[in-house]
Amino acid sequence: MTRLALVTGAARGIGAATVARLKADGFDVLAVDRGEDDPRLPYSLGHFHRGPDTADAALDVVGEGRVVPVQADTTDVDALRAVVEQAGGALDVVVAAAGVIAGGVPAWELDADAETAVLETNLGGVMAAARVGVPALLRRPEPRAGRFIAVASTAAQRALPQLAAYCAAKAGVVGYVRALAVELGGTGVTANTVSPGSTRTPMLDESARLYGLESAETFAAQQPLGRLVEPDEVAAVIAFLAGRDTHAITGADYPVDGGLAL
Ligand SMILES: NC(=O)c1ccc[n+]([C@@H]2O[C@H](COP(=O)([O-])OP(=O)(O)OC[C@H]3O[C@@H](n4cnc5c(N)ncnc54)[C@H](O)[C@@H]3O)[C@@H](O)[C@H]2O)c1
Repeated sequence: MTRLALVTGAARGIGAATVARLKADGFDVLAVDRGEDDPRLPYSLGHFHRGPDTADAALDVVGEGRVVPVQADTTDVDALRAVVEQAGGALDVVVAAAGVIAGGVPAWELDADAETAVLETNLGGVMAAARVGVPALLRRPEPRAGRFIAVASTAAQRALPQLAAYCAAKAGVVGYVRALAVELGGTGVTANTVSPGSTRTPMLDESARLYGLESAETFAAQQPLGRLVEPDEVAAVIAFLAGRDTHAITGADYPVDGGLAL
């Protein structure tokens, strides 16, 4: 039977790369994205349109799976629930990749609405994906191979000045998923996080702008790897964790950061 995955933040960047990987691995994928800008933030978010690095591009990836782009906000539990119910109510994999960034000023000076957007989307969005996604993973009959995977960040481990709210949200994601993993013990559903370093996406362009840098390429020098991480390299680890053979991995945080956290 074809396995069904739900991916949030799927219109571009790491989420879109994950959709493409999972489709290539034969998954059917519900590719969920807000698909419109957030008025609390000064940069543009992902939109569904055909172009390089978008979820629509995943439609062209060779593989047996189907991709269904869905416009929904990852913080909207009712909207996520409707997406899952329409797809039959049960899932095999949930990837919570939706995220936003704000900062560029000391923690106490960050615009309050932008701060709320960062906490609500990055942490609240993962919790909403679990609120809807975990029951859907548990709806599969035993023996299960359900996988809940959230995208955290090096920011969960390492202080990134002028990104304090983002660091708080991502540390929250790692703590939340660790506890979730224990709660899911014995169910056949695992819960893990993947923590990318500086990865070539529009969010990194926004991070460069927040720091007053000319280009996101500047971040490459901070990583022992000596270059930016590519979205597909993060997606490869997510797809590995999504596989049936990873029963023994739960509550783990996988760095895909070229050594940035060291
Ligand atoms: N790019 C990096 O260097 C980096 C590093 C560490 C962690 N991350 C994390 O990786 C994840 C993906 O980021 P990215 O770099 O691909 O960013 P991106 O901005 O390129 O893509 C994020 C996607 O999430 C969507 N999104 C935002 N808010 C949403 C919401 N409320 N509901 C549904 N979709 C929403 C956007 O529309 C966009 O398509 C994020 O959680 C981010 O924090 C990124």
